[in-house]
Formats: sequence, structure tokens, C-alpha cells
Amino acid sequence: ISLPAARFLIAAARASDFPPDSGREVALAGHSNVGKSSALNAILQRKKLARTSSTPGRTQQLIFYGLGGEDRRLVDLPGYGYAKVPPQVKAQWGRLMEEYLHGRGSLAGLVLIMDIRRPMRDFDKQLLEWADFYDLPLHVLLTKSDKAKKNEARRTLDFLRSDLASRFPEVGVQLFSALKGTGVEEARERLGAWLEF
Ligand code: GTP
Ligand code: MG
Repeated sequence: ISLPAARFLIAAARASDFPPDSGREVALAGHSNVGKSSALNAILQRKKLARTSSTPGRTQQLIFYGLGGEDRRLVDLPGYGYAKVPPQVKAQWGRLMEEYLHGRGSLAGLVLIMDIRRPMRDFDKQLLEWADFYDLPLHVLLTKSDKAKKNEARRTLDFLRSDLASRFPEVGVQLFSALKGTGVEEARERLGAWLEF
């Protein structure tokens, strides 16, 4: 499927800056530097819409993008666990994420992005538990799959699928590579369904 053209709406550092909580919204979450912004660009077929960087912690705010209009949105969430930020910033990050995830009525689904070489870190497990608790659909992208050998990527995918199937039967898992385009169409279809395109 093809999604409507995306445009930047706002970079929000506090809840009062979030766009109106109407329509439907999908958010991308994951550890710092896993490739959230790159995944967003690949899915939206825009090379430079979301800023990417080899410096972890690049995205410090919640970046909202409108698809078509303002009632269907994608949100690039700030990466979890960037070591070099001071404790106050980490605490602020936690509060902001809590406010967003807990209070956002238009949130229709979460895309959890993991580096295929390092899946299921603490934050990933927490987010899975959290989404399950709040009955929020969640889809996992095992990204940078181009960095793993094909059989290793397959093995990680199979392992994670069966691992999650018992505890979180609704959660989907797929291979992804922003660099090679692997799984982009599959991810786009999931987003399109959640956003009701
Ligand atoms: P923060 O916003 O800092 O949390 O990072 P992010 O999760 O948005 O990651 P970003 O998209 O900025 O990418 C981080 C680094 O990983 C960049 O150097 C990207 O070029 C690289 N990268 C992202 N996706 C892929 C991929 O699929 N394959 C490979 N090989 N590199 C990737
Ligand atoms: Mg980013």
C-alpha cells in the first residue's frame, strides 16, 4: 500500500505541545540509536524527513508527522537509554513518555524497534508489558537486519516469534532494514491498518 504524503507537524518537549488528541496515531519507540528515525523515513519513502544520526540521542523530543492531514499521525519518540544525558534529562524523558503513552487516546498502535543484533533489552521488555497491560497493539521491527547473516536473522526472528507468542500472542514480529528496504512494505501495511487508510 502507499501512505499519503507526510509532513512535519511539531517537535514537542512537553505534553502541552502535543497536537490535539484526535484521529489516529502510531508511535515508534525503541532504544537510542536503534534506527527509529531511519525506519520512519523508509516507511514514508522520504529520505530526510526525520533526522537520523550516528550520534545516539539525536531525537530528544516527540516529533509528530501528519499523514495527509493532521488527523492521522506518526510519532518519532525519543530514544530510550542514551547514556550520556544527565539524570534530570532522563527523569524528564520518563515523565514525558509516561504522559504520552498513558494519556494519548488517539494512540492506535506502537511500533517497537529493536536492533536485530541486540533484541529484548530492558526497555523493550517494559514496553511489551506496558502495551499488554493497556491493550495497545504492538508490532516489532527487527531492524538493521542487513547487519546479520541471513540464517542468523531468520533464527532471531523465529526465536522471538515463539518467545513472544506465548506471552503476547497479538504482537507481530518482522525483519526490517531501512538500508536495504527489507520489510518496509510489511511495516507500511501494519501502519496503514492501524491508521485506517
Ligand atoms: P535516536 O533518535 O538517537 O534515538 O536514534 P534513532 O533510533 O532514531 O536512530 P537513527 O535512525 O538516527 O539511526 C541510527 C544509526 O543507525 C544511523 O547511523 C543510521 O544510518 C543507522 N541505521 C538505521 N537503520 C539502519 C539499517 O536498517 N541498517 C543499517 N546498516 N544501519 C541503519
Ligand atoms: Mg531518532
